[in-house]
Amino acid sequence: MGTRCGIRWTAVALLAALTSGAAPVVTVAQDTENPYISRLDVRAGRQLFQARCSTCHGLNAAGGNESTGPDLTTGRFRHADSDAGLFRVIRDGVRSTAMLGLGADADEQSIWQLVTYLRSVDVTAGGTPTGSAAAGRQLFTGTGGCDRCHMVNGQGQRLGPDLSTVGERRALAELETALVNPDAEVLPRWWTMKATGPDGQVVEGLRMDEDTFTFRIMDADQQLRAFSKYGGWTWERVQRSTMPGYADTFTAAERNDLVAYLFSLRSEP
Ligand code: HEC
Ligand code: HEC
Repeated sequence: MGTRCGIRWTAVALLAALTSGAAPVVTVAQDTENPYISRLDVRAGRQLFQARCSTCHGLNAAGGNESTGPDLTTGRFRHADSDAGLFRVIRDGVRSTAMLGLGADADEQSIWQLVTYLRSVDVTAGGTPTGSAAAGRQLFTGTGGCDRCHMVNGQGQRLGPDLSTVGERRALAELETALVNPDAEVLPRWWTMKATGPDGQVVEGLRMDEDTFTFRIMDADQQLRAFSKYGGWTWERVQRSTMPGYADTFTAAERNDLVAYLFSLRSEP
């Protein structure tokens, strides 16, 4: 998956046809990378698919038949060999068939999300990580310090989700997103609690528990701090991750190693 990270938005090139007064043509550069690849995009794409495409292609894209709408989960497309190609098919349709496409006015983000969804249902997918899982494992427990927060097979800490089987739950692109943009999707369980004291002091961390009178926060040093709700502190939930983003900490190659390691974490032997 190479340097997927910084979202190389090689852009939807607007090729205004300069010749012969032809109408402007909007095209997609062959090497355009899909900028909408998070889990939220998969979900949005699925919703769109079920609303707009499933009557012909089936609820989970596994198809009716060639005439109503082919199976789109096989990983092979007759009319596209790249994300940009799929983008075009979804936008423009397939000529002289029932596949009309969403049309030139369709929202680009929605089209990309459909592409992302189709990639997510590719039964041949999973992809092959380009990095070294062994090197990634060393980063994980070494300079990465990921085990300060994460547990893998019983080793590590509980300030973040247990990653023992994360390779089963997440696609390669999602693992990369988790590293460079941890705030992209944070389950409420991992939201941050921010408490501000009477003198303006601030404590931020995971909300461990809360009742009518007290709440407790686990700060970054894993200190459990208890607060009385009547002690002059105010508090709020912040829908952000406590996990730092690693876009700058690690090179793309190191992140690929980490992703390869994470991807290898599965329950099957
Ligand atoms: C009215 C039925 C219909 C609807 C609705 C429809 N499709 Fe299709 N689609 C087809 C048919 C039929 C084909 C096969 C065209 C051909 O003969 O190659 C096709 C082909 C495709 C292909 C190309 C498959 C390949 O092998 O290259 C893609 C991708 C696709 N559809 C995606 C979508 C998406 C995404 C939507 C919703 C936005 C959608 N379709 C809505 C009928 C439909
Ligand atoms: C300060 C604590 C902390 C550190 C350090 C940390 N993480 Fe996280 N991580 C979290 C929390 C909290 C979440 C859950 C919220 C989220 O998705 O960001 C998370 C989520 C993740 C996820 C998504 C898990 C899932 O179930 O989808 C992955 C993958 C991940 N971290 C990998 C790493 C790696 C690799 C490192 C080291 C380079 C690391 N984390 C370092 C706290 C941490």
